[in-house]
Amino acid sequence: MAKPKANRRILVIHGPNLNLLGNREKGIYGSLTLDQINQEIRKAADRHKAHIEIFQSNREGELVEKIQQAYGKFDAIIINPAAYTHTSIAIRDAILAVDIPTIEVHLSNVYKREDFRQVSFLSDIVEGKIVGLGLNSYLLAIEALINLLNKKER
Ligand code: DQA
Repeated sequence: MAKPKANRRILVIHGPNLNLLGNREKGIYGSLTLDQINQEIRKAADRHKAHIEIFQSNREGELVEKIQQAYGKFDAIIINPAAYTHTSIAIRDAILAVDIPTIEVHLSNVYKREDFRQVSFLSDIVEGKIVGLGLNSYLLAIEALINLLNKKER
């Protein structure tokens, strides 16, 4: 792995049920497993000389703790909060508390789905949101954050 550049520490967080990717509702989420998605994320981070850590949990409290612990350790966060997107004030508050630039991603196009999936407790506090592009939602988020962090360095 190439040596990471300073100020390119990205935390990727996957929420509940994303550990089941590859088996779960393939018509909606595709057939890539979470491990395969993570491999591609790591390759992209490597290309950009970014340090990446990837975390998945099915528990809201663990996701909140991971975000809290990111303070001072990471320069940016990519989060797919999965179902907690639509319910979690605790995750919203944690992101506000650490004040780290964050991109919200979703594999599926939540705007083509049930009404409740169109509600997000994060969308108005994140840098941006990428939906509906499967693995590319994550890869585009990495590109966008690298550009953002480069601008900050200048
Ligand atoms: C999801 C969309 C959510 O509505 C759903 O609960 C998920 C996955 C997505 O990546 O498309 O678990 O976040």
